[in-house]
Amino acid sequence: MSSVFMPVTASTQAVQTDHIYYVLLAFSVVIILLVTALIALFSIRYRRGSKAKRGALPPIMSKEFEIGWTSATLFLALFIFWWVSSSQLSALVAPKNALEIHVVAKQWMWKTQHSNGAREINELHVPIDTPVQLIMTSEDVIHSFFVPAFRMKKDVLPGRYTETWFRATKLGVFHLFCAEYCGSEHSRMTGRIVVVDKDAYARWLAAQPEGDDLAKEGETVFRARGCSGCHSETSKIHAPKLNGLYGRKVQLSDGRTVTADEAYLRDSMLMPRRDVAAGFEPIMPSYAGILTDGEIISLTAYIRSLSGNEENSQ
Ligand code: CUA
Repeated sequence: MSSVFMPVTASTQAVQTDHIYYVLLAFSVVIILLVTALIALFSIRYRRGSKAKRGALPPIMSKEFEIGWTSATLFLALFIFWWVSSSQLSALVAPKNALEIHVVAKQWMWKTQHSNGAREINELHVPIDTPVQLIMTSEDVIHSFFVPAFRMKKDVLPGRYTETWFRATKLGVFHLFCAEYCGSEHSRMTGRIVVVDKDAYARWLAAQPEGDDLAKEGETVFRARGCSGCHSETSKIHAPKLNGLYGRKVQLSDGRTVTADEAYLRDSMLMPRRDVAAGFEPIMPSYAGILTDGEIISLTAYIRSLSGNEENSQ
């Protein structure tokens, strides 16, 4: 539904968000009408010179009524808090089978990449009725990925991954905005989300220029940047091997345990001395400033592929 007040509603999250908005609006209208009506009523009834009774209230008014409306509003507020937070929190986690898209923001454009390696600039093609997970990072400053039709907005930060997801429910082209002031061309950092049906998406994906898929690309980077010198299966150097690493729990030398997820792999490339795996010397140099975000994404995809974690590839 689209109106003067609302952009078109084109995702499951948008329906839910609008629902919450309208219910809160309804509560507010009822309360405003009640309060204004009582103000009007009392100003007329108790105006100067009126003959209305002004003695003490009957006991039922000063006790039962008081307790009644206080607890009614308290429970109303608690209910709203529970309802809104539970629906918003459950919307944070992408379903397991979600299609994975990588987004890299920079001054001033959006670069998106599909799991088979297809890339787009200031555009993103997605299939309808399919959960789509966005894994986003920025090459420079903070940006924010904002799609009003999906009621979706998530900051995109340098040096860190943020995730969000959506399930489009309408075919069409929707606005993508940057919603965080990021420099002189911020207002022009826009794009288009193109929602097509599933067959059209498969055809579109197949028609993209032959690019290596992310994991393949990562394998090339792995050799070109010298990672393979220490981390390949055949290396004589005592460095953690990467087969089966992704998703596993890693024991660190300081006793902590972490899960080898995207953030851990990224940190290990850029800040290798922070989380040193138990049993290894902190000898790896930092690759900050050497690897681009695109290379980190493909390296991560490569490391994932070594764990047979490729359920999202097309
Ligand atoms: Cu990017 Cu504003």
